[in-house]
Amino acid sequence: MFLGVNVDHVATVREARKDVEPDPVKAAALAISGGADGITVHLREDRRHIQDRDLKEIRKKVQNVELNLEMAATDEMVGIALRVRPDMVTLVPEKRAELTTEGGLDLKKSGKKIKKAVDAIQKKGIPVSLFINPTVADVELSKQLGATMVEIHTGLYSNAKGKKQMFELTRVKEAVKRALDIGLLVNAGHGLNYINVKKIAAIKGVRGLYIGHSIVARSVYDGIEKAVREMKGLIKEGSPRR
Ligand code: PXP
Repeated sequence: MFLGVNVDHVATVREARKDVEPDPVKAAALAISGGADGITVHLREDRRHIQDRDLKEIRKKVQNVELNLEMAATDEMVGIALRVRPDMVTLVPEKRAELTTEGGLDLKKSGKKIKKAVDAIQKKGIPVSLFINPTVADVELSKQLGATMVEIHTGLYSNAKGKKQMFELTRVKEAVKRALDIGLLVNAGHGLNYINVKKIAAIKGVRGLYIGHSIVARSVYDGIEKAVREMKGLIKEGSPRR
């Protein structure tokens, strides 16, 4: 199963300092070395993490795996997608105050705007995926809006425990099944981590999973020991001899 790695949070750390490090472009290259089948970036309207230049650089460097641009269905973003030409676009709802994409698209309320974006992007040969809540109705609406793919939101599954989690898993499975039945490609993502991923990976017919936060969090744990050791070594080398 395909793994798309979202490198937004690398840029979040960089933007906390408005520095040049850590660089999401470099992180994308390392993720690919680690086996990522795709790279995702979300260019938000407020540019709070990924910047336009990151997207340009990532497009230049990410050539052999799939570049997925997550974005809101706005004219500005459609223009950027058509200029940068990612391998696919995922349309997501965007609220300024949210910490992350909180729910799937509201396909009823925003249907017109979404269809306009889907048509404009797909007309230029770039497939569009819609990030949707795990309901059969939203899967069917996605098809009506002309999307090639859907990404089923796994946030409720990921945050739930015990019986409630099994209930949410069933909803995801039902949505996946309906999407496959009506000829959509199906992905899943949000909130997946090293504990909860296997049950989603086990769902037949899912093309790929899109994961960001847990991988970036794990990278800090896996890297901090080495980073501290190297800094200690440099301090020791630089220290005056007594
Ligand atoms: N898929 C979509 C559409 C998202 O918006 C996000 C969050 O940026 C993810 C997947 C990845 O979610 P997480 O960071 O929780 O792994």
